[in-house]
Parts: sequence; C-alpha cells; structure tokens
Amino acid sequence: MCGIVGFIGKKPAAPVLLDGLSKLEYRGYDSSGIAVYDGSTIQVKKAKGRLKVLSELTHDGATMPGTVGIGHTRWATHGEPSDVNAHPHYNKAGTIAVVHNGIIENYLKIKKRLQAKGYEFLSETDTEVVAHLLDYYYKGEPLEAISQVLYRLDGSYAFGILFADHPDKVYAVRKDSPLIAGIGRDGNLIASDVPAVLKYTRDIYFIGNGEIAELSLDAIAFYNTDGESIEKEAKHIDWDENAAEKGGYEHFMLKEMYEQPKTVRDTISPRLKDNDIVIEELGMTDEEIRAIDRIRVVACGSAYHVGVSAKYIFEGMARLPMEVDTASEFRYRNPILGEKELVIIISQSGETADSLAALREAKEHGNLTLGIVNVVGSSIAREADRVMYTWAGPEIAVATTKAYSAQLVAMYLLAIKFARVNGRLSDGQLKEYITDLKKLPEQIEMLLNNDERLQKFANRYVAAKDVFFIGRGIDYAISMEASLKLKEISYIHSDAYAAGELKHGTISLIEEGRLVGAILTQKDLYKKTMSNIVECSTRGAFILAVTNEENTEIEKIADYVIYIPQTNPYFTNSLAIIPMQLFAYYVAVGKGCDVDKPRNLAKSVTVE
Ligand code: F6R
Repeated sequence: MCGIVGFIGKKPAAPVLLDGLSKLEYRGYDSSGIAVYDGSTIQVKKAKGRLKVLSELTHDGATMPGTVGIGHTRWATHGEPSDVNAHPHYNKAGTIAVVHNGIIENYLKIKKRLQAKGYEFLSETDTEVVAHLLDYYYKGEPLEAISQVLYRLDGSYAFGILFADHPDKVYAVRKDSPLIAGIGRDGNLIASDVPAVLKYTRDIYFIGNGEIAELSLDAIAFYNTDGESIEKEAKHIDWDENAAEKGGYEHFMLKEMYEQPKTVRDTISPRLKDNDIVIEELGMTDEEIRAIDRIRVVACGSAYHVGVSAKYIFEGMARLPMEVDTASEFRYRNPILGEKELVIIISQSGETADSLAALREAKEHGNLTLGIVNVVGSSIAREADRVMYTWAGPEIAVATTKAYSAQLVAMYLLAIKFARVNGRLSDGQLKEYITDLKKLPEQIEMLLNNDERLQKFANRYVAAKDVFFIGRGIDYAISMEASLKLKEISYIHSDAYAAGELKHGTISLIEEGRLVGAILTQKDLYKKTMSNIVECSTRGAFILAVTNEENTEIEKIADYVIYIPQTNPYFTNSLAIIPMQLFAYYVAVGKGCDVDKPRNLAKSVTVE
C-alpha cells in the first residue's frame, strides 16, 4: 500500500522525507521517490525497489538540497513497478509535482481528454493525469487549481502537491484515503499514516474528505473546495515514537505479539471502575442499552473474526441476538436492519474502505453506530456515532496480533456491560468475570513465554502444503483467526472448519501426515470435538491440540498439545490464539517469508 510524506521547514527536507518513508515501509511498496524544491526548481528522484536504493541514489538526501518536499512509497496498481511509474509525477515544465495514494477510477477518460489537448504522458499510472490536470487548471492560484481538479476526479485519493512558484507551501488533500498533517518543531508535515511523523510531532490534524491543507513554515491552514477557510483542531496522540521501531525484536510482528499483555491491560483497565464495567464512550443510559434488541457487527478479516467470537459471547452471556457480516458483502446486499439494532464496526485502522462504507450504509438506515477503532481520529472514529478505542498503539506488522487481542477484550467488556444492564448477570458472576478479565494479561504473558517450544514444533511444518484448523463454538472463531494468521504470512494453504462440518465433505482431504490444529477450550463441546479429532487421527492426520489445563487425557490422541490456563469459557479466545500466532510466525520465519510485509497485502485496505 502506498505511503505519503511531505515536509516544509527550517532544515533539509530530503532526509526527513526518507526517514518518514522508512516508517511507512511496513505498508508494503515496490518503488519510491521524492521531490524537493531546491531554490529554483523542483528536483525529482525515483527508484524501483527498496527505499535503500533511493537513499543511495540521493546520498541519504544530501544531493537534494531544499527545505520543502514530498515523498512516496508506491505499491503498483496502474502500471508495473518501475522508476518511471514511481511517484512523484509532474507536469511537462516540472513546476507541479504530485504524490498520490488511492485509485483515480476515471483516469482513462481524463487522460484521453488531456492527450487531445496535447498533453504527453510518461507513465502508465492514474496519478500522472492529476499532475497534468493541475497544470491545465493552474492560473497562479494553487487552491483554485486543486479544487477544479477534485471536481473532476472519481475514486479515492490522498495527494501531496508542490507548486514551484509557491515554494513556501505544501498542499495536501484527500477523499477516502487517509492523510494527516502534523505541527512539528522544525517544520510542518503531512503523511498518510501517523508513525511517519511521530519523530517530529504528536500534534496532528486529521484531514477530512474534501479538505485542502496548506502547509507553510509556521502554520497549517485548511480550506474547503470553495476556497473558504475551515477551523480545525489538532489532536494530541500519545503514541510512543519507539512504537514504530522494532526495539530489538527481529520483526514488528514478534514485538507486537509480545505487546499483547500491555495492549489487553490498557484496553480493559480504563473501563473497570469500582468493580463494575463503565464504558463512558458508549454514551448510553441503561434504558437506552435495554432498548437495543439486536446487535450487528460489520468488519473485515481478523476484525470480522472478533465479531464471530463476540456472537457466541453476546448471545450466550447477554442473550442478545447478534449478526456478523463481512463489510464487503454487507455494503452491497441492501441489508435489512432492525430499528433498534446497534451496528458495531470493528477496525484497527479505522480506514478500511469496505468497513467505512458499511458504517455509512448503517447510518443511512438511521441505525446507531459504534466504532471499535484503534487509530484515534481515523475516518471510522470520526464518522461513527460513538467510538470505543482499543489502546493497542500503532500496529506496524501487516498481520494483526495486538490490535486483534485488544478488539477481543473490547467486545468482552461490551458483552458484560449489556448482559449486566439486561439483568443477565448476578453480582457474583460480574465479580468473577472481572477477576478473570484482570488475569488475562498475565496469562497471555505466560503463553508467550512458551515460544521456544513452539518454534521447534513450527520448524517441522515449514514444508506443509495444507493445514486445517477445527473447533466448535468460540473454538471455531479461534480456528478462523489461527488459519488466517498462518496462510497470510507463511503462504501455506489453510482452512478453518466448524469441527462438525468436516464430515460433510472436507474430511476427504485428510490424509497421512496432514496437520490438523484442533481447538478445544469449551467444556460442553469438548467431547464432540474429540470425536472429530479421532476421525482425523484415524485417517493419519497429525493432531496439534490447544486445550484447557485439565484435559490431559487428550495426549492419548493428539500428537502435540498446548495447554491454556484456566479462564472463563467466554474469554478463551484471548489465550488460545497466542500459541497459534506464534506457530504461524515461526513457520513463516522458518520458510524465510517477509513476515512483516507478506506479499500482495496492505496494512490498511483503503480501496475496495
Ligand atoms: C489480518 C489482518 C486483516 C485486517 C483487515 C481489517 O491479519 O490484519 O485481515 O484485520 O484488513 O483491517 P482493519 O481492522 O484495519 O479494518
């Protein structure tokens, strides 16, 4: 996924741009480039491959003097990865330079029109039309030209723009693709993601759709597309600068897995008050909570898996019906929503295009919406009626671990709150739940400490071709996430099955040596899943079982067993997923995969 950085300040821009881009490397990219105004013209340098190539080409920025510039890491969509397709793109005179994230859907139509007017194109990208279109409309007024261009674009975009005859300004504008502006000590910045600017500032403006930011040395002004000034307030972000560093770990993913005890603690503890669950952000009275007769979770990927787990908890504990939808399906299904249905959108980034569209769809239906979001000020956080933040800090590895864990506990808190208000929990049960919630961070830590044993086991499976994960109830939800973790970072095909479904077809794939990961944390379903394990093991499968401490007799059937400590059955997902994350990680490392940036994947999926 592409990354944008821009800087205007008192010191050389190129090193700041290169440093900022390095913090966005985790998003995945195949080329990079920077444009810097050198006092008379805009200099552009671009290179296919890693950022290192661009750094070498510019001697770490030293050959590009100037204090104003924009930079980009590109993940090819229109046109192959190459020097010429890399951003920035510019007009023929080289007086306007543009970097772009997103997709211009009508670029071919615009390109044809521009070609008919004599414009020549160097690249195959959709972005280059923007540079020429700006040139076409530019009559000395950047704001006017930008507005004219925006009226003509379809799609999603975030732009950083330089005009050579306004060298004391950097412009930024976006629609449905994230972009922020930061107030730094030695200058002001733009970026597509917060970690890029953390070294320079924590005071951040989240640029809204259709808002144009105009950065100068000592100010950031905002305008709408009619050129009218807009008042905006900066938000202070508490994220630690080191959060965007590996801190001695080999990969961000490993570091983030080890941050899970803290993440879970930070998400739970502000909501525990006087032995009760207090979720002020919900902004709902008990009466309003009681009025809700159904909940719908809409999310993508791992966040969707959190929803699947939550369904068992809300329905079991709070006796409240819950539907769970993948956002990409929900948004085009013309869904039927009940009048008293609360719609919860779960999203780490708060920018996932499908989840954002689903949120808007729910709002159009007039339903109350709640965002469970990690990135403060992100689009979903801004647009949802209510926001409950997960306090996971920046998650850099593409495959989520700590944000997933934080989302899970946020859903536990909500379920307990709803159950309590709806009269489904006694004082004693509430007390027990809270006690178990408080123990989770320590228990997660314990499981993480088991990683050497898991590493050895994982090394035996680096050559696996297919892996199955099975479970029932919440264990099925855990299996889904375990399977996704393994396949996305190790490229080993894997599937998750509700254990009872195996014999309806999939069991024909079980053969000698096939690895089957079985999750058995639910006491009432233990025996049922055990019989499914037996069905697999008699067909030669190798059984990896994750179960509760007391189930030691499983060792007679399973080949490798991981025990999780005692907790409430509703909370087992938080524990059982830890060894599964470690397993996926070590298989991927053993295979030599790029764990933090798996192929073809983006951290924040801002396109459909
Ligand atoms: C998998 C993963 C993805 C995300 C999904 C939603 O490890 O990270 O499946 O969970 O893309 O992203 P957010 O939560 O940002 O909406």
